[in-house]
Amino acid sequence: MNTKDTLLLMLPDDMQPHAFREELLSLDASLHVVLDTEPHDPAEVGFIVGWRRPEGGWGHYPNLRAVHSFGAGVDTLLQGGDWPNSLPLARLVDEEMADLMAEYVLTAALMLKRRFLEYAQAKGGWNWGDDWPLPGRRVGILGMGHLGQATATLLEKVGFQVHGWGRSEKVRGGFPCSHGMEGLGAFLGQSDFLVSLLPDTPDTTGLLNRDRLRQLPSGAVLVNAGRGSVLVEDDLLALLDEGHLSGACLDVFQTEPLPAEHPFVSHPKVLVTPHIASLTPVGSVAPKILENYQRALQGRPLHNQVDPAVGY
Ligand code: NDP
Ligand code: OXD
Repeated sequence: MNTKDTLLLMLPDDMQPHAFREELLSLDASLHVVLDTEPHDPAEVGFIVGWRRPEGGWGHYPNLRAVHSFGAGVDTLLQGGDWPNSLPLARLVDEEMADLMAEYVLTAALMLKRRFLEYAQAKGGWNWGDDWPLPGRRVGILGMGHLGQATATLLEKVGFQVHGWGRSEKVRGGFPCSHGMEGLGAFLGQSDFLVSLLPDTPDTTGLLNRDRLRQLPSGAVLVNAGRGSVLVEDDLLALLDEGHLSGACLDVFQTEPLPAEHPFVSHPKVLVTPHIASLTPVGSVAPKILENYQRALQGRPLHNQVDPAVGY
């Protein structure tokens, strides 16, 4: 191994970088894996597995061959707008992650459909026999990529009617799909459940604003497990309070961790989770990241490479 082949883990503590290093070393004991909190020479770093852009920018690592996201998203790595032109960037595409996401969305949809949040809060303070009108069974998934299609497959199995929306015209797992801004209005109008699994890009920022959420059928619910930047949070609160929407389950936010005083935390119609819709399973992703590390050393294209100009 060349001295410039150090594999640097630039991961926050809650992503358990020590455990991930052990996993990598169990696959190849000859690797030189360093955590960014440990002393290292930036000139020897050839490959970074990261979650956020380094404070000093990418230029801090003059011999970097490639960067691998430790998640499905790459938005936090691309922040700063200084991505070096020829630096390859890969993301995670993993079946376990997709299964977790699908399970999360199904759980949220069923809880919101059957109003479990309200029953849990009422703690017996209901009128026996009273019921609420149930939303319909039509689910619209914004972002029909890897996670969106896995989610659509699971929801369809339990009887939801699923349709999707993406950026470009393409076949997405056989589900009826529309794309682009021209297809969005009709898509929203047919979504009793709106699920956002969109990435954070300049085009998706603020997409779910008051005007668009108003186009959902009355009584619709929102599940956002993509990125918090997609949703205008005050607009959602207004539509919940006006009664146009009947509930929301949110896993991602404008500010994370979500501040304890944020109105979502105590809102009776909002279920909040701390960005856990899907998790990165180290055992499953370590061989994939290792394969891309080896490809980077050999100068070969990476699997699941992202075009930084597109942003996801
Ligand atoms: P993919 O790249 O496979 O799919 C992204 C989808 O979004 C594609 O269908 C794409 O359209 C669509 N899209 C992107 N930009 C636009 C746009 N401007 N207009 C319409 N559609 C658009 O990503 P994944 O499915 O693997 O992951 C999706 C996101 O989920 C990640 O980027 C991340 O932000 C989030 N995530 C959240 C997690 C959590 O725990 N909460 C865990 C993991 C991921 P097209 O098909 O045309 O390319
Ligand atoms: C991801 C995430 O992008 O966990 O993988 O948000």
